[in-house]
Amino acid sequence: MRAIARFSGATIVGVNNNDYQIERGRRQNDDANLSRLCSFQKADFMALPFADASFDAVYAIEATCHAPDKRALFAELARVMKPGAHFAGYEWCMTDTYQAANQEHRAIKKGIEEGDALPDIWTMPHVLHALESAGLEVLESRDLALDADPQTPWYTPLAGRISFSGFKHTKVGRVATHVLVRALESMRIAPRGSTATSTLLRAAGAALERGGKLGIFTPMFFFHARKSMGRSKS
Ligand SMILES: C[S@@+](CC[C@H](N)C(=O)[O-])C[C@H]1O[C@@H](n2cnc3c(N)ncnc32)[C@H](O)[C@@H]1O
Repeated sequence: MRAIARFSGATIVGVNNNDYQIERGRRQNDDANLSRLCSFQKADFMALPFADASFDAVYAIEATCHAPDKRALFAELARVMKPGAHFAGYEWCMTDTYQAANQEHRAIKKGIEEGDALPDIWTMPHVLHALESAGLEVLESRDLALDADPQTPWYTPLAGRISFSGFKHTKVGRVATHVLVRALESMRIAPRGSTATSTLLRAAGAALERGGKLGIFTPMFFFHARKSMGRSKS
C-alpha cells in the first residue's frame, strides 16, 4: 500500500492518500516491530508535503498507475529526490501486443481502467518517455511478467482453481459471492453500494485475467531510473 518511500538515514516514509491504508500500514509496522524504521504520512503523491531534494530513494509499486498525470507525478517525485537518487517502480501497462484497433483489446483495457479506478493505461514506451521528460535517466526496464513461470502467470489467482482459497475466483465462485453480497446489502448488513462495487470488481477481475492471457496487459512493467547529479558550481 506504500505509494512512495524515503530512505533518510535508516528511516522510510510511506505515502498514501487513503486513511484505511495508512491505518493498516501503521498496524502492520507495529505488529512487525518496525515503526522506528518506517512511518506513514497521508498525502497526495501529486503534491508531496516534502522539501526539494530530501529523499535518497523513492519506490512505487502498482501505485503511479493511479496518477491523473504521470508526467506531473514523475516531475514531483524528481523534485523531492536528491541529485543522483534512484527511483524504482512497477507500472500497469498495455504491452506491444495491444492493438487499439482491436475491439476486444479496447474492451479489456476499458474494463481494467473502470474496474480498478485507473485513468488511461499507458504503454511501456510512453512511461519511459514520461520518466525521461521528468529529468530521470532510465537505467533498466523490462516487463517482469515475461520472466514468470509459464505454469503460474501473475493472473493465476484471478483465474480461480477448484480449491478452498481459489473458489471465489472461479465463475461459480464469483456469482456466489455476488449473490451473497446482494443479499447482505438488501438485509442492510453490508453497506449501500456493496453490490455495485461487487459488479465492478467482477468485471475488473475478468478483464485482468483476459488481458493477462492475451498478453496485452502487464501489471509489472519494472523500471529503475536515476535523477541526474546536476551541474556542480565552479
Ligand atoms: C493498487 S494499490 C497498490 C499499492 C501497494 N503497492 C500495495 O501492494 O498494496 C495503489 C495505492 O495507491 C494509492 N494512491 C492512489 N492515488 C494516490 C495519490 N494520489 N496519492 C497517494 N497515494 C495514492 C491508493 O490509496 C492505493 O493504496
